[in-house]
Amino acid sequence: MTLYRHIPVLLHESVDLLVTDPRGIYVDATLGLGGHSEVILKHISSSGRVIGFDVDPDAIAIAQKRLENFNNFQFIRNNFKQIKIELTRMNLLPINGVLFDLGLSSLEIDNGEKGFSFINDGPLDMRMDPSLPQTASDIINHENREELRRIIRDFGEERHAGAIANRIVKIRNQKPYQYTSDLADTVRETIHGPFQIKSLARVFQAFRIAVNHELEALKRGLIDAFDCLAPNGRLVVISYHSLEDRIVKTFFRDLYTGCICPPEQAVCTCSNRIQAEPVVKKFLEPAQAEQDANPRSRSARLRCLRKL
Ligand SMILES: C[S@@+](CC[C@H](N)C(=O)[O-])C[C@H]1O[C@@H](n2cnc3c(N)ncnc32)[C@H](O)[C@@H]1O
Repeated sequence: MTLYRHIPVLLHESVDLLVTDPRGIYVDATLGLGGHSEVILKHISSSGRVIGFDVDPDAIAIAQKRLENFNNFQFIRNNFKQIKIELTRMNLLPINGVLFDLGLSSLEIDNGEKGFSFINDGPLDMRMDPSLPQTASDIINHENREELRRIIRDFGEERHAGAIANRIVKIRNQKPYQYTSDLADTVRETIHGPFQIKSLARVFQAFRIAVNHELEALKRGLIDAFDCLAPNGRLVVISYHSLEDRIVKTFFRDLYTGCICPPEQAVCTCSNRIQAEPVVKKFLEPAQAEQDANPRSRSARLRCLRKL
């Protein structure tokens, strides 16, 4: 088996913020290869617990091996949008903290077979969860031009979404898309110059988000994770691109906001109340040394709140 490495991002900062009670119950909503979970487990006592969620069975297998010596670790192969259902079923509520380290692990990005990479060729799949019904090639070969444009524009924030969608439709009429190199070639043929690499990253991000319904899962996951927290419980979220971060920022801001009635109104009718307070002012970013050592950490932003 190839040995994949994933360098956990903002590792000590996130765990220091998350763990407030060594006997508490913590959820690692994005277990990956278990890097964050391992440090959480080292921070808590044997009466504390860590529950790790992931949809990728390959990641879970690696994390399970890595964490096999911890009796107080348990994994759940499910989407983090099911956090409340799973924890209720296990009778674990309320809990003391949830960590989200969003996106993909290096295992997923670097392994061409998973179809996320425009560098290592492989089938145009992009499913983190192999039981999902639709792959990236299904979407690219079957969705209409307008839907392709919408995906590339809304999930990739790519300015040339229309031109790329047009080219996809033209090419797939001659030969269906099968490999990541097919999609990468289309982007390279459409976008020229120094920004080509950024467009490649944006288009691959767009289809990855569409295949895995990432933004819907994040919105649901945040709401339900917050519901699962005990008073003083912490939510720590590390995001890697502006679409994710915007969702996290808006969700946190709404929880920090009390009454939204107009100031001239004497009696409150909105029933909005402050439910959380920030633990970190705005957000944390990796220090320069971490960014130099791990270029994938460069875009990371960590936000943290405390439930009141
Ligand atoms: C950046 S990695 C986490 C790495 C981990 N913190 C570590 O140190 O090894 C993100 C992981 O979250 C998983 N993931 C992404 N979206 C998910 C979701 N909605 N539900 C469950 N797991 C998800 C991915 O499969 C991936 O393994």
